[in-house]
Amino acid sequence: MPGLLGTVTRSLVARSLLLATFFAALIPPGVVAQKMELSIDASKTGAKIDRNIFGQFAEHLGHGVYEGIWVGPDSTIPNTRGIRSDVVAALKALKVPNVRWPGGCFADEYHWRKGIGPADRRAITLNPNWGGVIEPNTFGTHEFLDFVEQIGSEAYISVNVGSGTPQEAAEWLEYLTSAQPTTLAKERAANGHPAPYNIAYLGIGNESWGCGGDMTPDYYLNQLKVYSHFVRNFNPAQQEKHPRGQQMLTIAVGPGGGGSRWTEWTETIMKAYQSHTWNIGMSALSLHNYTVVKWPPSYASVGFGEAEYAQILKSTLEMEDLVSKFSAIMDKYDPKKEVALAVDEWGAWYAPLPGSNPGFLVQQQSVRDAVLAALNLNIFARHADRVRMANIAQMINVLQAMIVTDQEKMVLTPTYHVFKMYVPFQDATFVPLTLDAGTYAHGEISLPRVDAIASKDKSGKLWLAITNVDPNLPAEIQLSVTGMNAKSAKGESLTAPKVDSVNTLAAPNTVTPKPFLARVQGGKLVLHLEPKSVTVVSVE
Ligand code: AHR
Repeated sequence: MPGLLGTVTRSLVARSLLLATFFAALIPPGVVAQKMELSIDASKTGAKIDRNIFGQFAEHLGHGVYEGIWVGPDSTIPNTRGIRSDVVAALKALKVPNVRWPGGCFADEYHWRKGIGPADRRAITLNPNWGGVIEPNTFGTHEFLDFVEQIGSEAYISVNVGSGTPQEAAEWLEYLTSAQPTTLAKERAANGHPAPYNIAYLGIGNESWGCGGDMTPDYYLNQLKVYSHFVRNFNPAQQEKHPRGQQMLTIAVGPGGGGSRWTEWTETIMKAYQSHTWNIGMSALSLHNYTVVKWPPSYASVGFGEAEYAQILKSTLEMEDLVSKFSAIMDKYDPKKEVALAVDEWGAWYAPLPGSNPGFLVQQQSVRDAVLAALNLNIFARHADRVRMANIAQMINVLQAMIVTDQEKMVLTPTYHVFKMYVPFQDATFVPLTLDAGTYAHGEISLPRVDAIASKDKSGKLWLAITNVDPNLPAEIQLSVTGMNAKSAKGESLTAPKVDSVNTLAAPNTVTPKPFLARVQGGKLVLHLEPKSVTVVSVE
């Protein structure tokens, strides 16, 4: 079909020329793109980039669940069984691999029985961690699993260790997974779900060193032994069907920072894992790390300048040191890398938006967060042999969200777009690359200017994700690929006029990806990267 192909190519060229003109308008005259070399040997491969590093986190916090996901079946906002349809459609496009629920700190105060049964008879409780507001319990076990099914994802349930009991957690798992007609399974059927639910991931507590109960490492270790012994998936058929051939992945509470306290915590759990003194079946150790600079979070999420842009990105790159540090400790006790590092809370945590309830963790999302998300995803991918799960905090309306809702309207954030652009990296195979990254400097801060990862998807297609951190200067990447005859690189690129550009209801497309096409020059592919941009291309 040469005629059609010619038309497609011409329209792509025309579009990229138009875009080049659009982007050129954003760059001051006389600014010359710095040339940089990037080479990929397509015949070399590394570890699989587990799709679970693109996981999400939905806590009962502010408007994350209520209004964000759940509007109730009687709402005028279009919904399926109470779950808003616009949010489901948007999340489906992200191919969300797993959703962590119900918390966070909320998990260690959550009693699952209050969230089942007829909606009008559910207990009304409080949410002391997050503003002390009423928790209506109308979104409970069945509603969460309906949501997970509607978006085509898998459930990551965190059980209550702090204020619950092993019996309560074990009964929840029996209620969820038993195929046999036990009293609990019959109760599940009476509540509308005769078939057992598929529970893929199980968290044993949350931040048990803090809001989860202020436990010492040894105390938590004992809890972990007890919970992981009794809280099982009770469905043998489901165990066989699980894609990894395991009954369920169990995630233990891990470190929450980089200091010696966290070294001791990690050593305690991993040493016990190595000694096999108990039948733990622990498949992951969590790491929580927010980009916050200093506590309490005081950086503004909008209305900031280059100094704050540079400082936040410097701070986010500390993720690399943390992942390396804890991977090295884990290597000591688990050289076969049986236990994954699950970064199951990460993202930017800024000052609450003025006028918002400070307990609701409401912030804006700017192009800075798109760059920040890409830098973190790249770190996880480079550590794919150990980091096999990560959950950005949080999914909707809270912290570094994918989606912000306002009544019947919603806005997709810059971070949403990055997650969508990175879909081809889910379960792809890491391909090493060499890059002359250059330097971006602002005041005392200096950072690698360009960051990139490459991978091969299941069909063998080569993908490249590349971020230009510099908010002022474009970069010109001379891409050479060995091991394949690379003729084109095309995909999408996201940037924005200002470092704090955001998407709002009034202007929802300020920070959205646009089509991107590399040019061919002297036998090389040349990628023109806009300042503060994230670009994902397939190389063919
Ligand atoms: O994501 C907000 C909170 O941050 C979570 O509830 C808690 O686990 C962490 O401290």
